[in-house]
Amino acid sequence: MTTDTTTSQAPARDTVLDATGVTMRFGGLTAVSDVDLTVGGGEIVGLIGPNGAGKTTFFNCLTGLYIPTEGTVSYRGKVLPHRSHLVTQAGIARTFQNIRLFPNMTVLENVLVGRHTRTKEGLVAALLRGPRFKKAERESEDRAMELLEFTGLAAKRDHIARNLPYGEQRKLEIARALASDPGLLLLDEPTAGMNPQETRATQDLVFAIRDQGTAVLVIEHDMRFIFNLCDRVAVLVQGRKLVEGTPAVVQGDERVIAAYLGTPFEGEPGEEELAEVEAAEAHSTARTEGDDTA
Ligand SMILES: Nc1ncnc2c1ncn2[C@@H]1O[C@H](COP(=O)(O)OP(=O)(O)OP(=O)(O)O)[C@@H](O)[C@H]1O
Ligand SMILES: [Mg+2]
Repeated sequence: MTTDTTTSQAPARDTVLDATGVTMRFGGLTAVSDVDLTVGGGEIVGLIGPNGAGKTTFFNCLTGLYIPTEGTVSYRGKVLPHRSHLVTQAGIARTFQNIRLFPNMTVLENVLVGRHTRTKEGLVAALLRGPRFKKAERESEDRAMELLEFTGLAAKRDHIARNLPYGEQRKLEIARALASDPGLLLLDEPTAGMNPQETRATQDLVFAIRDQGTAVLVIEHDMRFIFNLCDRVAVLVQGRKLVEGTPAVVQGDERVIAAYLGTPFEGEPGEEELAEVEAAEAHSTARTEGDDTA
């Protein structure tokens, strides 16, 4: 059973992403099973679940990397083709769980590659390097620099990507994804390997991205990050959507706690744990009092 509880009392906002009945089978394994998910304009939606739950596979179905066995994916009301570059062109950009940068290119060059889908100049124009090409090139570079400022990487523009610390490589992936001017950004574990300060900065960056008009769908295992950030959270377990709702609803759902969260998110001991601790303390006090050597 699926619980649907949306945050907003406001009228439904434009739907940016509409995935319906998405199923992905690999031979006998059903990695994603009949998943429906929408993302509205101005929303940050989280996708969580245990390892192997099918989260990345679902992203791959959304972005044309995989052709889903069943189901459709629409972006702003139009069914998307199963080709990554056409999905990017339509307005969906993504980052990868395993960072995929051009390691030997500079930071700026990596963002310029991401800009490619939005520039019309063809190969001939590039070879001739005429005035129109040079103007387009300047504009691309200006936009790329804006994005490096936005993500806090401007000072590193000429550094080789592979020499950046891990957290900055993740930021660079985000800058590169934003270079295609997406209406929806998909982030696959954007804070993996980050320290708490970097995670906090990434949280602020995602809010800023949303505030600039790009909806966000984010996969993460860091629950504090997810519950701070998201308007709505969907939980995948064994390929199926178990629950969807506000962070408060998801955190409190017993099925989610049993299947994934384990203990309550705040890390506060529950009544049962408190009772156990008190009993243990009482026991040890009684022993100490009766023990001369203590
Ligand atoms: N190309 C593939 N071929 C066969 N099986 C695959 C393929 N990609 C993923 N799987 C399987 O599908 C299931 C879901 O994997 P997926 O990577 O989507 O999980 P995930 O939720 O992203 O996990 P994690 O949190 O560890 O990243 C796993 O059992 C995985 O082994
Ligand atoms: Mg994954």
